Amino acid sequence: MAWETKKFIEERISEMKRIVGDKKAVVATSGGVDSVTCAFLAHRALGKKLTIIFIDDGLMREGEPTKVSEELGNLGVEVKIVDAKEEFFRALGGIEDPEEKRKKFRDTFYRVLGKVVKENKANYLIQGTIAADISETERGIKTQHNILEQIGIDPRDYGFQVIEPLREIYKPEVRDVARELGLPEEIYQRMPFPGPGLATRVVGEVSPERVEMVRKATRIVEEETEDLRPFQAFAVLMKDRATGTVGGKRAFGNIIVVRSVESKNAMTATVSRISWEVLEKIQRRITEEIPSVIKVLFDITPKPPSTIEYI
Ligand code: XMP
Repeated sequence: MAWETKKFIEERISEMKRIVGDKKAVVATSGGVDSVTCAFLAHRALGKKLTIIFIDDGLMREGEPTKVSEELGNLGVEVKIVDAKEEFFRALGGIEDPEEKRKKFRDTFYRVLGKVVKENKANYLIQGTIAADISETERGIKTQHNILEQIGIDPRDYGFQVIEPLREIYKPEVRDVARELGLPEEIYQRMPFPGPGLATRVVGEVSPERVEMVRKATRIVEEETEDLRPFQAFAVLMKDRATGTVGGKRAFGNIIVVRSVESKNAMTATVSRISWEVLEKIQRRITEEIPSVIKVLFDITPKPPSTIEYI
């Protein structure tokens, strides 16, 4: 049967109305297409019974918290920013193992959310888990941050029940829903950005300084590849260091990997065919604007065998 966007929207809205009833709900948005679409659907269904928050975990791209709240504010949806930067960095400090990082991120995320849900006297958390998140967790590739039952978390321990209106659909259908809900193209065509944010792009310890480095490099990669409209393009900070020369002196500096991939639904991906000119400009800007970086590499590995992100 053909995918019926309107019917899907109507069904999800009446389902949320029925479940939440006269109680209250909270939805957290990151500004990404999944969580914004989810927030708009929930807003349609619940109106004032819904609180929309943006958790500032310190792992977002440059200027993202303000940008997201302004953007949604302009569309008539109020977003409250919750500053949880310290809590996240405290939780992630000293951890290098990728799955351990994801677990810490997830625990902190739900602890912060649990607090917000309680403060708002809400009973439900609505979240934008999509089908790909569920199947990747099921297949044991990696635990996406927002999958609860599969990883043995009982959300009631955190004080709420979860509603996942997008759990049966993949990214292309999420974009159809977003378009149908009247969201601007700028939102539904936006490059995917992982829930654990820049923590997925820092190999080794996630400290504020290391995140800042990858944040700057990410801005450069995004700016320089914008016209190419890749599915995803970003920078990754490696744990290892490499030797170089700065001002005629030996320097032992950081390594940044540039990754750019093409994909439809993120389940498989090919490497973007970026010209040498663009790659060279990215290298120049990164080493000039972030002097602690001594080496810039381009990742040529498709998915599989690689995943898109680095943890
Ligand atoms: P991987 O790295 O598994 O990524 O090939 C597939 C797609 O999912 C994004 N991604 C995530 N999204 N929470 C999210 O919301 C996560 O924990 C997460 N991990 C990866 C990634 O950016 C890519 O688009």
